[in-house]
Amino acid sequence: MGIDFHNKKNSKTYSTRKADKSWIEAIKKLVPIENVSKALDVGCGGGIYCKALSDMGVPSVTGVDFSKAILKEAEENCKEYKNISFKYGNAFDTDLESDCFDLLLERALIHHINDLYACFKEAYRLLKKDGYYIVQDRTPEDCLLEGDETHIRGYFFKLFPRLIEKEIDRRHNGQTVIESLKYVGFRDVIEVKLWEIRKVHETKEELFKDLRNRTGRSILYEIDDKELDKLIKYIDKSINIEKNIVEKDRWTIWKAVK
Ligand SMILES: C[S@@+](CC[C@H](N)C(=O)[O-])C[C@H]1O[C@@H](n2cnc3c(N)ncnc32)[C@H](O)[C@@H]1O
Repeated sequence: MGIDFHNKKNSKTYSTRKADKSWIEAIKKLVPIENVSKALDVGCGGGIYCKALSDMGVPSVTGVDFSKAILKEAEENCKEYKNISFKYGNAFDTDLESDCFDLLLERALIHHINDLYACFKEAYRLLKKDGYYIVQDRTPEDCLLEGDETHIRGYFFKLFPRLIEKEIDRRHNGQTVIESLKYVGFRDVIEVKLWEIRKVHETKEELFKDLRNRTGRSILYEIDDKELDKLIKYIDKSINIEKNIVEKDRWTIWKAVK
């Protein structure tokens, strides 16, 4: 079973980081952000990317999420930002007005969604003509890249190959995403790759602590405590640096225009 987004215990999971600089630069390359007046972030989690869009100069940002517990944290996290508002709603049916937004972001949402068509159709409805749709997620290819001192996630699959199938099952591949976007009517669909810093761990111990806390919200929920100990030992042996371990994740971003 994956993370329960509606459980209060998990409500801070998506509000305690800041958007990485590489993310901000990638979005600025894809979207003329100075022309965006109204942005929407669906599956906004704790509002990290609502804040980032506002900091990038977007005058009005709306965040939508289907977890009331997570939205409460998002409101707290963004309380200093008077131009950000939040709304409870589902990616398939947000209940927001049609043809209203210049930019729609869906980051780390689509691997929780089976019916891409329904999700993309709602996105198309919400955007103004010529509006930009940014979908960001990890494909199986991104996740299964080999492990090294920055791509820690790669070690999970090396040590526990049974996780490979699980990861492939829960993620959409790039071609499926592109075809679904086009099917719904989006044009100028492009796909780019991004290495984003997930976290800088000051010491190996910090990294291991972080891995132990990840079990409720990542592919690591598939392994038991003994296997987690084994994984940590394996990573300890595989990584030769002791301090400032820069952990990165590889992502895919699809840009499409209505
Ligand atoms: C992995 S988190 C990503 C949060 C944020 N976008 C980020 O990148 O930090 C996925 C978020 O999508 C929300 N979510 C999942 N399925 C959803 C749906 N069908 N409609 C709206 N929100 C959904 C979850 O509650 C959660 O906050």
